Amino acid sequence: MIQPLDVVVLISGNGSNLQALIDGMQAGRLPIRINAVISDRPGAFGLERAERAAIAAQAIAPRDFPGKEAWETALAAAIDLHSPGLVVLAGFMRVLSAAFVRHYRGRMLNIHPSLLPKYRGLHTHRRALEAGDATHGASVHFVTEELDGGPVILQAEVPVLPGDDEASLAARVQAVEHVIYPQAVRLFAEGRIRMRDDGQVEYDGMPLTAPLPAQA
Ligand code: GAR
Repeated sequence: MIQPLDVVVLISGNGSNLQALIDGMQAGRLPIRINAVISDRPGAFGLERAERAAIAAQAIAPRDFPGKEAWETALAAAIDLHSPGLVVLAGFMRVLSAAFVRHYRGRMLNIHPSLLPKYRGLHTHRRALEAGDATHGASVHFVTEELDGGPVILQAEVPVLPGDDEASLAARVQAVEHVIYPQAVRLFAEGRIRMRDDGQVEYDGMPLTAPLPAQA
């Protein structure tokens, strides 16, 4: 049995991806220990999900600090208290500074609701619909200084169906997010995925040249 990896999860809202990780951990499918969940929004439902799972939950809101730097300093201190081997952004909706991101280089993952490199930033479902795309999806990637631009590890596609609106498409994407995020976290925790100093992702010691699909 490998030693579980210490993980801190950052959220801003509902926390359904956090829930998928909690479920995987509790079912013994994920060799991780979520030590803390931190939200930038005090009312985030994900904090309640954490408390229900007996995980330390805390809000660190930018408005309680004189500026972004002070907020990030407090956030990093709260994270580093747990010496995490991995920081998971799960619907965390703040843009982090380059210095902050560098501090967690190679040990911070994000999930983004698009088939990156398509549709970085916001309103991804609306943009996919407006473009008339036949497929859409979600990507798990290492976080680098470039917003939604870090190397992609796993990607899942969903069809765009006739009659879809933003809500129906978002729901279909979220369903696959809940599959691929735990899978990516497991691969990382097992040491099978890592990001080299030059930004290249390695999978089982070999350069990953295209995102992995959802694992069977
Ligand atoms: C997810 O769909 C995630 O992909 C997205 O926010 C949602 C959070 O849902 N993230 C981003 O847009 C990041 N730019 P959740 O709180 O239920 O996990």
